[in-house]
Amino acid sequence: MKRAEQMYEGKAKKVYATDDDSLCIVSYKDDATAFNGKKKGTIEGKGVVNNKMSNYLMSLMEKEGIPTHFVEELSDRDTLVKKVEIIPLEVIVRNVAAGSFSKRFGVEEGTRLLTPTLEFCYKCDQLDDPMCNEYHIIACGWATREDLDRITELTFRVNDFLCRFFAGISVDLIDFKIEFGKTPDGTILLADEISPDTCRLWDAKTHEKLDKDRFRRDLGNVEGAYQEMMKRIFG
Ligand code: TMP
Ligand code: ASP
Repeated sequence: MKRAEQMYEGKAKKVYATDDDSLCIVSYKDDATAFNGKKKGTIEGKGVVNNKMSNYLMSLMEKEGIPTHFVEELSDRDTLVKKVEIIPLEVIVRNVAAGSFSKRFGVEEGTRLLTPTLEFCYKCDQLDDPMCNEYHIIACGWATREDLDRITELTFRVNDFLCRFFAGISVDLIDFKIEFGKTPDGTILLADEISPDTCRLWDAKTHEKLDKDRFRRDLGNVEGAYQEMMKRIFG
């Protein structure tokens, strides 16, 4: 499958059409942004890590009955995926308090939550992705009640799977963000990516951060953290 015209360029990926209208190609870049694009940089090799890690996790989840957009890895940075219309929501699960949760609620980073929590943000750069609830989502038509029920069910299954997977490589899954898309026949698929850009991943013993917070917070050894995740997953 070959890339046809570019359909879209996001902050970390480009999306190309293909000669099959139901498929597109995602191409992962090394570009990194934080704070809604206010901070910009490059993380050498990130595109390769995110592409391979996301594909591997999605292919394992498919085996567990979680439907995803993943079709085939074409190269280090390029992947064939099912074409979907992205539901404009960032779906965030938190197992341990960190980031904006800690700030908003005054709960110290690293505090394990009594149950995993779910948050939605409306995907809109101009508005800085505001947090929203299910009533806002249904009232604005971003998703239906049925969509939200399915998204919620799949999201907690993704959390269960990812927690188990990362525990197996001595990593605590603190929180993560996922996105869903809809195919023309209305099927909801896990889309976008699952990577150190979109998850907080802490070493289970030392609590060392192995994710994009190293870039967001200028902690140094950013590339090293991505490569460490790659090494733990693929050996
Ligand atoms: P937060 O604590 O900043 O709200 O982030 C929660 C999780 O979502 C964290 O794992 C990082 C991820 N995330 C994204 O993937 N994209 C974003 O734009 C933001 C703000 C967070
Ligand atoms: N998505 C955010 C941005 O656009 C980055 C992040 O904090 O993950 O800059």
